[in-house]
Amino acid sequence: MTRDMKTAIVTGASRGIGAAIARRLAADGFRTIVNYAADAAAAGAVVAAIAAEGGHALAVRADVSDAGAVADLFARSEAEFGTVDVLVNNAGVTAFGPLAEVRDEDYNRLVAVNLTGTFNGMREGARRIADGGRIVNLSTSIIGHYSPGNAVYTATKAAVEAMTHILAKELGPRGITVNAVAPGPVATELLLAGRPPELIRRLTSEIPLGRLGQPEDIARIVSFLASGESGWVNGQVIRANGGRN
Ligand SMILES: NC(=O)c1ccc[n+]([C@@H]2O[C@H](COP(=O)([O-])OP(=O)(O)OC[C@H]3O[C@@H](n4cnc5c(N)ncnc54)[C@H](OP(=O)(O)O)[C@@H]3O)[C@@H](O)[C@H]2O)c1
Repeated sequence: MTRDMKTAIVTGASRGIGAAIARRLAADGFRTIVNYAADAAAAGAVVAAIAAEGGHALAVRADVSDAGAVADLFARSEAEFGTVDVLVNNAGVTAFGPLAEVRDEDYNRLVAVNLTGTFNGMREGARRIADGGRIVNLSTSIIGHYSPGNAVYTATKAAVEAMTHILAKELGPRGITVNAVAPGPVATELLLAGRPPELIRRLTSEIPLGRLGQPEDIARIVSFLASGESGWVNGQVIRANGGRN
């Protein structure tokens, strides 16, 4: 395996922000692992789109909340594309509702995917990513709002930001940077599914730039953080939200 191309894993890349990140990193020249948990057809479509654009990608199923599956994801990536250089911990889920009404299964799912899943990726990445590599985690700008209805989601992402700062210090001596991107409202299934159009209109009206984010807005930032150009950016959270907060 030659090392003239680098390898990136993007978790939760079958749709939304993760799919845009995978396509962007592939366009940047990375061999890209398109991870997913459920929708093999959608992940396959992302791989096909990358191939059509002249890139190299492979879809690999792994539920990030399962530490063994994340270890297998790295092993498969290494077998196909060589040592992993970049890990984007993007897979995430949400559930909306007042804290008093949060169901145990929703609490457990959010913690399992957003917090344990990102931890599993960071731990495996810390053990296996090449020196000089990159880890990028997805947080959320909603952390700054303490917005009613988002207690568990906000808490999981706050924990992700805490681990981002600490792992950045632990891996810095190896030239590995660890950063997070915290998007505001981005037009994906996670934001739009089940929310009334009136709520989306109100959210949009709160954004000084006058529009929801698009997945590509976030992919551009991850592209920078994954590149050599960001070499002295470490332990940072970049908030991209059109100026909403
Ligand atoms: N959209 C927003 O407004 C927004 C704002 C701030 C932060 N974010 C963050 O950005 C990230 C991406 O969000 P999105 O809006 O693109 O969400 P999305 O459209 O719902 O996509 C989520 C992706 O995660 C995958 N996934 C879910 N559970 C998984 C698991 N256990 N293991 C592996 N993959 C899993 C899904 O694939 P399968 O269905 O195939 O499993 C899908 O590809 C999340 O971390 C989210 O919290 C989003």
